[in-house]
Amino acid sequence: MTLLELRDVEVSYGSVRATHGISLAVDEGETLALVGSNGAGKSSTLKAIMGMAPVSSGHVRLNGVVVNGLRPSQVVRHGVAYSPEGRRVFPLLSVLDNLRTGAFTLPKGRLAARLAQMYSYFPVLRERAGQLAGSLSGGEQQMLAIARALMSCPRLFLLDEPSLGLAPVIVQRIGRLLIEIQKSEGLAVILAEQNALWAMGLAQRTAVIDLGRIQLEGPSEVVRHNEDVRRTYLGT
Ligand SMILES: Nc1ncnc2c1ncn2[C@@H]1O[C@H](COP(=O)(O)OP(=O)(O)OP(=O)(O)O)[C@@H](O)[C@H]1O
Ligand SMILES: [Mg+2]
Repeated sequence: MTLLELRDVEVSYGSVRATHGISLAVDEGETLALVGSNGAGKSSTLKAIMGMAPVSSGHVRLNGVVVNGLRPSQVVRHGVAYSPEGRRVFPLLSVLDNLRTGAFTLPKGRLAARLAQMYSYFPVLRERAGQLAGSLSGGEQQMLAIARALMSCPRLFLLDEPSLGLAPVIVQRIGRLLIEIQKSEGLAVILAEQNALWAMGLAQRTAVIDLGRIQLEGPSEVVRHNEDVRRTYLGT
């Protein structure tokens, strides 16, 4: 079942064209790695889905319904969650209050159970629930950013550069957690990453984006062995 479809999506910031006709599809429960270097258009693509970047042409469809033009809060109500590049936790709010901000679409009666679910994925967040988010380590802030987004019980999770600035051992841990969460929730994920090797290891399919265009797309195993990809993104 196709959950998300992008058809010829162009994002323009004034005269700057960030993406040129991106077409992508993501099925229910599938993880797609969106890999590419600085300025390739990864974040702009995720923001276009969220209603956070100006889509100058093309369509974004969720379950067949066109959602471009909707506000981000409305896109969340369509079952999409977003964790931005740079984590962007609220540093002066407690961990618990950060999690609550992610639950604005959730019926009040489901809040406690959802919090408990997040704490079971990320026990450190329960330990630190009363602590200011700004005092967490980088890895803990990334876990909080993921958990905050997932509080809304999404069907599709857009995750932008979770590995940025984290030690390899923490990146591996976050990868294992993502797989666990994706499996237990039947979640579809788009993982936008410069760390191509790591992202491809987590995703069934990979799309390579460069200069605002999808250059190559296919099963991660196939993309990983592509000569150009190996040379340009994997340094081998
Ligand atoms: N708000 C903005 N205003 C103007 N130009 C922008 C804006 N945001 C992004 N761009 C431009 O759009 C292009 C794509 O940027 P984008 O942030 O989507 O790339 P990215 O693949 O996420 O890069 P990175 O890996 O550095 O995060 C770049 O040329 C960038 O300079
Ligand atoms: Mg980016």
